[in-house]
Amino acid sequence: MNKFKVGVVGATGMVGQRFVSLLENHPWFELTTVAASPRSAGKTYKDAIGNRWAMATPMPANAAGLIVKNAEDDAEDIAREVDFIFSAVDMKKEEIRALEEKYAKLECPVVSNNSAHRWTDDVPMVVPEINPEHIKIIDAQRKRLGVKRGFIAVKSNCSLQSYVPALHPLKDEFGLTKALVCTYQAISGAGKTFETWPEMIDNVIPYIGGEEEKSEKEPLKLWGTIENGVIKSAEGPSITAQCLRVPASDGHMAAVFMSFDKKPTVEQILEKWKNFSGRPQELDLPSAPKQFLHYFTEDDRPQTKLDRNLENGMAVSIGRLRPDTQYDYKFVCLSHNTLRGAAGGAMLLAELLCAENYITQK
Ligand SMILES: NC(=O)c1ccc[n+]([C@@H]2O[C@H](COP(=O)([O-])OP(=O)(O)OC[C@H]3O[C@@H](n4cnc5c(N)ncnc54)[C@H](OP(=O)(O)O)[C@@H]3O)[C@@H](O)[C@H]2O)c1
Repeated sequence: MNKFKVGVVGATGMVGQRFVSLLENHPWFELTTVAASPRSAGKTYKDAIGNRWAMATPMPANAAGLIVKNAEDDAEDIAREVDFIFSAVDMKKEEIRALEEKYAKLECPVVSNNSAHRWTDDVPMVVPEINPEHIKIIDAQRKRLGVKRGFIAVKSNCSLQSYVPALHPLKDEFGLTKALVCTYQAISGAGKTFETWPEMIDNVIPYIGGEEEKSEKEPLKLWGTIENGVIKSAEGPSITAQCLRVPASDGHMAAVFMSFDKKPTVEQILEKWKNFSGRPQELDLPSAPKQFLHYFTEDDRPQTKLDRNLENGMAVSIGRLRPDTQYDYKFVCLSHNTLRGAAGGAMLLAELLCAENYITQK
């Protein structure tokens, strides 16, 4: 099979570097184009990165020699060269919205890691195991944009990528009514390391700007339905969240409490988690974890350091399911924030869009 030609816009940043790494040896995708700000444009990728390479594996050789393009000024060239782009730029929200729409209007599909378009009502926000059917809204979006090939699709926030997958298989059958969530989020979610954020060593910060609102509202869009060319958010279950920054490098953990209309048994919940799989598993997509939800029976699992890389950082780890005195049950869950929660989740979404023929080769 000829590989899809892929561009990474914002390729020099933390998330962009992760895309570049994940694209090395990808069975369907080939990195052909990198783009960033005017500061990097015209340099080789290696020179533009300088000492900023933050991945554990070396920079892929095929990326190192690519000449970085200007994301804004070279958009027409880029759109002509590639089959689609991943967007990982860090700019003002309105600027990101405009840039991504510019690529879509140039007939270039955009799979975005950014939050700028998450609430555009004909832009699908997708966790591929949860709401793969939302990609059908792309037909309406294309009509609005007046294009045939281009569109924008986004992934959801990293904070919710542990607990929404755990709640999802229980929601309809047992009538999930409410959930209370406390997240314990790693510093890479802020694009930081302990070197660049030494204040986080031996510290917890009880505030992450905008995160609690995203953690409470985005699940309702994921659980929403397509109606008259827009995605209408679900009205419930109600979710309340507190999000804390903790001294872990990677991996967002969540402590979750949940209540139901038809309270299931512990065995029924474990059975649902064990048997849950989605469209990515059915299609056997390259980045799909074989077992999406892993339940640990040990009392001291999941642990951030031990379990975040499960199934290449694409699986969700769950543990400590037990009855609660105020809610029906409580449990703990974990997902890798820069893999499942960011570039890995976007990679899986792009694979889904290719498998379902929304992205095609030119
Ligand atoms: N870090 C995470 O874990 C994480 C998780 C989820 C979502 N996000 C979101 O993902 C996006 C990228 O985050 P990041 O942490 O990777 O940011 P970052 O490390 O600061 O990288 C930003 C990227 O955007 C490019 N850029 C900045 N201004 C630009 C402009 N005017 N025109 C074109 N390109 C421009 C930069 O290029 P130069 O190198 O040339 O400046 C760089 O490639 C942000 O929207 C962020 O909120 C991040």
